[in-house]
Amino acid sequence: MKSDLELNQELALERAEELRRELDKHNYRYYVLDEPVIPDDQYDQMMRELERLEKEFPAIASPHSPTQRVGGKPREGFTTIHHLTPMQSLANAFSEGDLREFDRRVRQALLPGETVEYVVEMKIDGLAVSLYYQDGVITWGATRGDGQVGEDITDNLKTIMSVPLRLHQKVPELEVRGEAFMPKKSFSRLNEAREEAGEPLFANPRNAAAGTLRQLDPRVTASRQLDLFVYGIGLNRGEAPDKHEAALSLLSELGFKVNPQHKLFNNLDEVIEYCQHWQTRRFDLPYMIDGLVLKVNSLTLQKRLGATMKSPRWAIAYKFPPERAITRVKNIFVRVGRTGVLTPTAELEPVQLAGTTVSKATLHNEDNIREKDIRIGDLVLVHKAGDIIPEILASLPEKRTGREEIWSMPRQCPACGSQVERPEGEAAARCTGMACPERLWEGLVHFASRNAMDINGLGPAVTGQLLSAGVISDPADLYTLSAADLLPLERLGAKSVQNLLAAIAASKNASLDRLIFALGIRHVGERAAKILAGHYGSLDRLMSTTREELVNIPEIGPKITASIVSFFENDQNRKVINKLIEAGVNTFNEKEDRAGGNHLSGQVFVLTGTLENYSRQQAKALVERLGGKVTSIVSRNTSYVVAGENPGSKYDKALDLGVPILNEKEFKEMTEKYL
Ligand code: IVH
Repeated sequence: MKSDLELNQELALERAEELRRELDKHNYRYYVLDEPVIPDDQYDQMMRELERLEKEFPAIASPHSPTQRVGGKPREGFTTIHHLTPMQSLANAFSEGDLREFDRRVRQALLPGETVEYVVEMKIDGLAVSLYYQDGVITWGATRGDGQVGEDITDNLKTIMSVPLRLHQKVPELEVRGEAFMPKKSFSRLNEAREEAGEPLFANPRNAAAGTLRQLDPRVTASRQLDLFVYGIGLNRGEAPDKHEAALSLLSELGFKVNPQHKLFNNLDEVIEYCQHWQTRRFDLPYMIDGLVLKVNSLTLQKRLGATMKSPRWAIAYKFPPERAITRVKNIFVRVGRTGVLTPTAELEPVQLAGTTVSKATLHNEDNIREKDIRIGDLVLVHKAGDIIPEILASLPEKRTGREEIWSMPRQCPACGSQVERPEGEAAARCTGMACPERLWEGLVHFASRNAMDINGLGPAVTGQLLSAGVISDPADLYTLSAADLLPLERLGAKSVQNLLAAIAASKNASLDRLIFALGIRHVGERAAKILAGHYGSLDRLMSTTREELVNIPEIGPKITASIVSFFENDQNRKVINKLIEAGVNTFNEKEDRAGGNHLSGQVFVLTGTLENYSRQQAKALVERLGGKVTSIVSRNTSYVVAGENPGSKYDKALDLGVPILNEKEFKEMTEKYL
């Protein structure tokens, strides 16, 4: 006879498996396909139920449960792993001529009557990794190392949400190869935070990805949002495809994220055209590529071509030349950030670089300027770190005229005159003035920004005016503003004043995670804010938390913890928060206290065109308040496309797929009856 415990455990396991399957499925939709079908809170609810079950019945735990993505404990160091098949690297081509030479050699291996097809892929600028699955379950993951032996970074790779923990089919044994990378956005966000914290910056997304995967604490890896594209198979003891393109399809079907920009060619001229196309369009991609990879499609031909000591003869990397430009430093000025960090910035003679005109470049800090010996008036070599952040690589001292000026960090804050300090061992200089208007200004602009409290109409200029007029001195003061305070401001007519006051009032209902993000706590970005909001459910509970509780939350590392604790210890900050609460700003998680109910739960909306009465953010907030979800891609899973004036291609796609289309009036009727 089975005991009660055994019976309960069986039931728990059954439910846990059901939840795991559901969570895996939604995770795949969200991170691999970018087509979420359920609202975040429904996902979070399932995750919490699963966590509870696994805690109550430790025997049902499983290393590939979605709760175990950030399950690993910090390590002392990494152990090594032998790759089952060697990880080769690619030979490079730098010109059209090199590609033609490669093609010629491939053709020499063709049998009479045979033709060659090439698959051309993006060459993702990240870090080569190998993943090994047994019976469809992830077993280990490793860096390339010397090609034979790599480092075991399984725990870190599992934190990458697009890496499947279980495959869609139980293939007996599979070793896959891919590129782990840091998307451009995550890279610039990470470096911004590091700059504010006075920490050394990563030179490019590749270094950032490498540093992140070699982190000993998987929670830190998880917080940095890496991603992974899979591009090939190492060892496979399942059914083996005979074309590279079929291998990519198989990998997709198994649940891996395969870069969609691969294309098949049977003609080298078209390959070359495709390479040239991406050389200029690469800046539009959300991740960095440093070239393209040509691969012979037929695996039979690949085998026949074989490999040299270093690289296969059936593939080649076409590398882009790095984008650089030369221009002159007109001046160097200092920007004061939210946390008081003084960042020197170079004003440049405008120059075309990586797809945009650049007229400013961050100089990061004093040491960087000194090391590179950058002077006002210098000709300098510029590039964009991560394709985004303009940076000076070097000065060109041989071009000096003698009239260049050496720059040094001001001793007093250019905004408030307070003393500037540079703490021992830190690269950043900081303004020490608590009420520095520049810090206040940056903080307020952040508070009102689109992803924070989303106060439409409260941009940098109006915020600056409000501060200099002395009508506000912290974010909570916004909620006591009246028309009389605003009307005297320059360029604010009666209508704008009315709109601004309405936007400020509406922001009181912003979700808790937005509020937490808006507070501008160092290191607490949007993701951390969401996690904290989900964990605590109210600002009050977050404020009275402990260091111990914080460090135990997945993805909240020691640095974020320290910063949160010190933020809430500060009397000034507590005062502002109390004022916000008094003003009636929402400090609860909508899950527990959703004003709009769950009427649109499970419904996925896509917005296109301009709506007359709602900004994008407002329409999105409205749907979310009612429990719905807004995404940007129309698919068969989309419930409604809301089309305003001049709708884009999403409208056509909706027609194509037969997704219901709502006009603004219908959207209004659908949502407002619940409010
Ligand atoms: S194929 C034996 N495909 O580029 C062939 N590599 O030396 C193995 N890379 O670090 C490489 N994107 O990780 C291939 N679509 C792609 C790639 C790619 C990036 C990296 C690879 C390695 C380097 C090639």
